[in-house]
Amino acid sequence: MLYVKDLHKSYQVGKVRYQVLNGIDFHVAQGEFVAVMGPSGSGKTTLLNCISCYIPFDRGSITVGGTKLAGQNEETLAEIRNTKLGFVFQDFMLLDGLTIRENILIPRIVQGEVKRDAEELADKLTDLFGIGHILDKYPAEVSGGEKQRAAVARSLINNPMVILADEPTGNLDSKSSRAVIETFMEAKSKMDATIFMVTHDSFAASFCDRVILLKDGIVYRQLEKTGDQGVFQDELLDVIKEMSQ
Ligand SMILES: Nc1ncnc2c1ncn2[C@@H]1O[C@H](COP(=O)(O)OP(=O)(O)OP(=O)(O)O)[C@@H](O)[C@H]1O
Ligand SMILES: [Mg+2]
Repeated sequence: MLYVKDLHKSYQVGKVRYQVLNGIDFHVAQGEFVAVMGPSGSGKTTLLNCISCYIPFDRGSITVGGTKLAGQNEETLAEIRNTKLGFVFQDFMLLDGLTIRENILIPRIVQGEVKRDAEELADKLTDLFGIGHILDKYPAEVSGGEKQRAAVARSLINNPMVILADEPTGNLDSKSSRAVIETFMEAKSKMDATIFMVTHDSFAASFCDRVILLKDGIVYRQLEKTGDQGVFQDELLDVIKEMSQ
């Protein structure tokens, strides 16, 4: 579904070039829920922005659902963003002047008319995520956790190949975080959604199928969940400790 091969990315600031990604390799399969962790500055957001087609990369390749990202023109990249990718941001990015229902339908609205199938999918998603009762409210009238679950519903409204999420639980308390992670798990089990999530939170990551740990611009380790979520969180914490030494 998502292939990243030998990805290199640097930033030029004045005369200085900062190498951030130094040959990243991994693959995310259809229906997998994968987290990326790593110290601050290790390049997690940079990696996500490369996959999101927001910033160009120097070398290597990214393939989403069979389409290579390098060498595409802006128009094609915009189309990939609209049709193959779904996004969930830390600060929700809901529009204040639209209801929750309208916010969820935005990706369809920007593509033209909202057809009946989109309305039906919106109803299905909001039922699944327990936010059916807030559809006519405005973002200012709902809780942070509800906003984020609406943002997850919006990310699914185009049936994307992959959902990309940068710190989706970063601004939430532990109860709301858990509710958001549960929406991802529902999306995975009921809709076969593929989710790629950057997080600092080992508790959130411990619900994933696999965790990719970045350090110094490369994949330091990949950990697969084989058993219990609590055991997996302990394993993650051990590797994070080892990484910081
Ligand atoms: N536009 C930019 N120009 C120059 N340097 C940048 C730019 N964006 C990020 N960087 C640098 O690249 C490195 C990686 O940044 P990135 O935001 O990818 O880290 P991160 O792993 O997401 O960190 P955090 O956990 O704090 O969100 C950092 O050293 C950062 O200062
Ligand atoms: Mg970041």
